[in-house]
Amino acid sequence: MPFTPDSELDLLFPASLISPEVKSQLHTDLHIRPLASTDHGRGHLSVLSVLTVATDHGEAAWKSQFDALRSAPNTYFGLVIVDKASDRIVGAGTLFIERKFLRGLGSVGHIEDIAVDKAQQGKKLGIRIIQALTHISEVSGCYKTILNCSDANVPFYQKCGFEKKENEMAKYA
Ligand code: ACO
Repeated sequence: MPFTPDSELDLLFPASLISPEVKSQLHTDLHIRPLASTDHGRGHLSVLSVLTVATDHGEAAWKSQFDALRSAPNTYFGLVIVDKASDRIVGAGTLFIERKFLRGLGSVGHIEDIAVDKAQQGKKLGIRIIQALTHISEVSGCYKTILNCSDANVPFYQKCGFEKKENEMAKYA
């Protein structure tokens, strides 16, 4: 499939929020951009399957979730890295911005669901995704950016400039 430029896509958030520095550091075969309404067809779920079972509920359900995310403005920032030759997604990640009453009515950026296609791991795509999401968090005025990860991924996030702080607690339904 030929590469689809941003101008022909319906994007989750303005592409101007993608760090120009991160863009310039990516290999010219790759493109980083906001998630688009047609990315179900570009392998979004298959990239996410490196994280956990990514059941496909069909394109309509995927699009409906995309629309729900976009209906909360300035809150969900899903981005993807696309391989230009195939127009397929090879990396993805999300920033969620939480608005608080504390910290001078401040905001916190939460990084979620970072995934790089197995064949592309170890080529600095992961760090570029984290840098791009942290940039959005910072230009949006968040006073900190946080995430949860496994022990195995601690060294990766340390390379991205994060430090270990407190504990994660979880209660599954
Ligand atoms: N242990 C030690 N170092 C690591 C690890 C690791 N597990 N992973 C990456 N690094 C290092 C790399 O060697 C590199 O170091 P360098 O700059 O000195 O060369 C640096 O971290 C950057 O690595 P990238 O090449 O950018 O990493 P990659 O593109 O493979 O992305 C990721 C890392 C996202 C963890 C990827 O391997 C992946 O998708 N794994 C499976 C899914 C996953 O675990 N996602 C994260 C879940 S946590 C969350 O979503 C908040």
